[in-house]
Amino acid sequence: MDYKQLSVVLLLVFLCHELVFSSSILPHLCPKHQSTALLKFKQTFTIDTFDMCGLMLGQESYPKTSSWNLSGDCCLWDGVKCDEMSGHVIELDLGCSLLVGVIDSNSSLFPLSHLQRLNLSMNNFDGSQISPKFGMFSSMTHLDLSRSYFSGQIPSETSHLSKLHSLFLSTFYLDKLRLASHDFKSLLRNLTQLRELNLRFINISSTIPLIFSSHLTTLRLGWTGLYGIIPESIFHLPNLERLDLHHNDQLNGYFPKTKWNSSASLVELGLTDVNSSDTLPESLG
Ligand SMILES: *[C@@H]1O[C@H](CO)[C@@H](O)[C@H](O)[C@H]1NC(C)=O
Ligand SMILES: *[C@@H]1O[C@H](CO)[C@@H](O)[C@H](O)[C@H]1NC(C)=O
Ligand SMILES: *[C@@H]1O[C@H](CO)[C@@H](O)[C@H](O)[C@H]1NC(C)=O
Ligand SMILES: *[C@@H]1O[C@H](CO)[C@@H](O)[C@H](O)[C@H]1NC(C)=O
Ligand SMILES: *[C@@H]1O[C@H](CO)[C@@H](O)[C@H](O)[C@H]1NC(C)=O
Ligand SMILES: *[C@@H]1O[C@H](CO)[C@@H](O)[C@H](O)[C@H]1NC(C)=O
Ligand SMILES: *[C@@H]1O[C@H](CO)[C@@H](O)[C@H](O)[C@H]1NC(C)=O
Repeated sequence: MDYKQLSVVLLLVFLCHELVFSSSILPHLCPKHQSTALLKFKQTFTIDTFDMCGLMLGQESYPKTSSWNLSGDCCLWDGVKCDEMSGHVIELDLGCSLLVGVIDSNSSLFPLSHLQRLNLSMNNFDGSQISPKFGMFSSMTHLDLSRSYFSGQIPSETSHLSKLHSLFLSTFYLDKLRLASHDFKSLLRNLTQLRELNLRFINISSTIPLIFSSHLTTLRLGWTGLYGIIPESIFHLPNLERLDLHHNDQLNGYFPKTKWNSSASLVELGLTDVNSSDTLPESLG
């Protein structure tokens, strides 16, 4: 290669680098259909005057959707995050946003099919059921619908969300949400990437099935009406840090010290009112 050829190659390399680099810092305009869907979603709600989060979490609520308007890129709206390359909305964080209204199967939330993280916790969707359409968010990794007054049956489609790392559906009141025993089993069978599962206060009325996600760190199943024997496999989950089985008085545990040896990661164990027939190891308090 002579000097001329070399400089041409260097120039090309420089131009390619510039092209890739500058396109990655270009602001990504939100596709129109997405901003339309988000604004429609915003319009289905009124803003609450009661700050549940301030009262319960000591974390002040504020209406994130209030500043959403047609001017500007929806990827920059409060609570919205887009994929840097495609511009698709991949995250919606609207926990503690004072939303009051109903989310049904026609909600303009569902066209946002690229969502990976959705947090709608601590709002007031009283009168809403969890739509089977939530099961169509095939890229979802984090779903938090907890303590937002959803009611009724949790749809079996939830177990289609096989990429989920976190699933939070806990409620405030007993028997407001129900999960069929066979759906509970397919959730735990299919969601093999789960790290955190919170189903507190949901009426499950089931035995505890085998759990297939070895990634589980947090399992909250207090007040769910579980019964039967706590399966041995729970003792072998290598990463389990928090296990909450509080107030399931039909649940029988046999806790010989040796079984807890394999649960070295455990830092929190909730067994109030569980019918246990052996002592817990002293190391667990
Ligand atoms: C409209 O959106 C822009 C940018 O997101 C924001 O600065 C402005 O306050 C909004 N206007 C209203 C009336 O909310
Ligand atoms: C959802 O939002 C609430 C309120 O901001 C927050 O407390 C909670 O931790 C969030 N959930 C997740 C899974 O991050
Ligand atoms: C959805 O919209 C269609 C037509 O607009 C309507 O017939 C149907 O009842 C709506 N479904 C729900 C759950 O609101
Ligand atoms: C389990 O997940 C796969 C996708 O990974 C899906 O096709 C299947 O229907 C799911 N099974 C259940 C019982 O939800
Ligand atoms: C849970 O649901 C069953 C019916 O599926 C019902 O018999 C039971 O009373 C419910 N439990 C609670 C605590 O409401
Ligand atoms: C609690 O455990 C004892 C044996 O340890 C058993 O006899 C009893 O039936 C159990 N109670 C329930 C509600 O399962
Ligand atoms: C569990 O630990 C105890 C001492 O802490 C030991 O005697 C016992 O052999 C261990 N059991 C297993 C199954 O490793």
